[in-house]
Amino acid sequence: MSPAFYLTTPIYYVNDRPHLGHAYTTIVADAMARYRRLAGDDVWLLTGTDEHGDKIAQAAAKAGMTPLALADQNSAAFRETWKVLGISNDDFIRTTEPRHTKLVQAILQKLWDAGEIYLGTYGANYCFGCERFYTEKEIVDGKCPDHQTRLTWIEEENYFFKMSKYQRWLIEHIERHPDFVRPERYRNEILGFLRDPLQDLSISRPKTRLEWGIPLPFDDTYVTYVWFDALINYVSALGGPGDPRFEKYWPHVQHVIAKDIVKAHAIYWPCMLKAAGLDLYRHLNVHGYWTLGGQKISKSVGNLVEALALKEKYGNDAFRYFVLREMVFGLDADFSEEAFVGRLNADLANDLGNLVSRVTTLLVNLSEGRVPETTPAFEVGGDHALGGDLKGAFEKARADVDAAMREFAFQRALAAIWEFVGAVNRYIDTTAPWARPASHIARGQRLSALYNAAQALWCLGVLLEPFLPEAARKIRQALGGGGVPTLRDAQWGRLAPGASVQKVSGLFPRVVDRKAAAPVPGVVGAAGSRISLDDFGKIELRVAEVVAAEPVPKSKKLLKLTVSLGAEQRTLVAGIAEHYAPADLVGKKVVVVANLEPATLMGVESNGMVLAGSADGKLAILTLDRDLPPGAKVR
Ligand code: MSP
Repeated sequence: MSPAFYLTTPIYYVNDRPHLGHAYTTIVADAMARYRRLAGDDVWLLTGTDEHGDKIAQAAAKAGMTPLALADQNSAAFRETWKVLGISNDDFIRTTEPRHTKLVQAILQKLWDAGEIYLGTYGANYCFGCERFYTEKEIVDGKCPDHQTRLTWIEEENYFFKMSKYQRWLIEHIERHPDFVRPERYRNEILGFLRDPLQDLSISRPKTRLEWGIPLPFDDTYVTYVWFDALINYVSALGGPGDPRFEKYWPHVQHVIAKDIVKAHAIYWPCMLKAAGLDLYRHLNVHGYWTLGGQKISKSVGNLVEALALKEKYGNDAFRYFVLREMVFGLDADFSEEAFVGRLNADLANDLGNLVSRVTTLLVNLSEGRVPETTPAFEVGGDHALGGDLKGAFEKARADVDAAMREFAFQRALAAIWEFVGAVNRYIDTTAPWARPASHIARGQRLSALYNAAQALWCLGVLLEPFLPEAARKIRQALGGGGVPTLRDAQWGRLAPGASVQKVSGLFPRVVDRKAAAPVPGVVGAAGSRISLDDFGKIELRVAEVVAAEPVPKSKKLLKLTVSLGAEQRTLVAGIAEHYAPADLVGKKVVVVANLEPATLMGVESNGMVLAGSADGKLAILTLDRDLPPGAKVR
């Protein structure tokens, strides 16, 4: 039987719309769930919405809606967003559903019957944003440290959960299970907190103050405090004790949260579980905040970081890659579109995208679109081996990914995969399979290099699935593989010789950051913005002679140009087909940007840019008014 794996995200408040912060936690959980499925586990991934409490009641009043109408609307927005982002959750729970409210009441009744709950009076400073009371020690300048808002002193009769009696037990549990709360910084934070006496937890709110909640089963003049209600979703979504789903998955539960809700998850929740006679979770995995200019991303920062806007602009896989790669799980990370575009262009368009297009093109052009045979003499250790141990490099990457994923270190897992991507690119450069074979040995070497490159690409198509599901599927499909893979499929030789291969191009198109530099067509630089002489000096302009020109198949706008820069020839792609016929260009001396990073356009790699001016729909290429040799510098 496959090992079970149960993973949860926080259930998000419905007074907010899904932004980058929520999306990160959910993407992280999705990547982990996909990875465990790939490893063969029987996975259950849960997310949902937290719909009761002051916060929601107040937001609804402000919007002139009932709390349930607001919850319906925003819960649907979360559900829809996760669908569009391709999140593979198995369930979506809402705390207003009867399956949840019933279980919350059953647990409350059980604790009441067992004498774990009592009626008492409580007065303290309360934060409406956090929906919790703050101790004197936690308050900063009289304000909530999280929301920076003034706290409200509230005194009332309430029901209390006898949490204090679990303090010793909880400390011992955390000490005996070093990775109960991880990374370690959060474990230390909780142990530090537990050095002071733990108070009992107020678990009710009088209905006179708040009606929007689950009534206490033993006193319906009160509703349940939102955290006591919300945490139980992790149990109620599985049907609770006795339900086969609960019995199967609960022993393997792990939670993912950000550091804002560590205390509720690392202190209240284990004590509640212990009192209710339920097993504790295995791990609480805590990540840091996404910030924007140093400020935690939240509702107030607006559209820029709305989850869907980012996906729309850059594509799902690029969005996933950026957040998983950029944030060190556990630490804060600052979001910037420049960093996003930088990673997209360097890691996805250049390293991975070009690799996929290179390997598939080589297989189509040099091996008749089939995976070739290989023979031992050309393999690592063989007499005619070339290019190093790519298979070994993959096995290392796979082991490193596994170790990283066991610790929720997504950024390390991706770094390990990209080390392998680099190794495959270097392997292809070293073995140069495009070189003309002069002997049967050279031919064997070439076929062996293509075989290894094909195996490497296939393995990437499997191992990338949890991180870049769409790109990984395209890679596997190009190599004739359909269906849902498992890690066992990521093996050398799994792709049989003879398997058909299709070219893939433009897997990740380069992004020109229009915000940073909105280019005027054909002219280098940004409209309206000034650059220094130093900046200008970074652009290498040269005279180039057009040697050959042809249309790019299936494109109305693009021409493929072969140009001479004197010592070398290059291929460039220029968007000028609507203005110039290929024959007009051959023999012309034009000016090109010679030090641009390569970009693939409609499957053709372009190594530079032809300069042209444009106005009113007319376009004119820059040429010389006197002759200069190809390769001459332009300043
Ligand atoms: N409803 C509670 C959770 C109850 S779980 C039993 C809640 N909801 S929330 O909508 O405020 O979501 C908080 C969670 O959203 C964080 O723990 C984190 O997962 C995610 N994030 C919200 N903003 C974030 C950042 N700026 N950065 C990273 N994650 C953030 O708390």
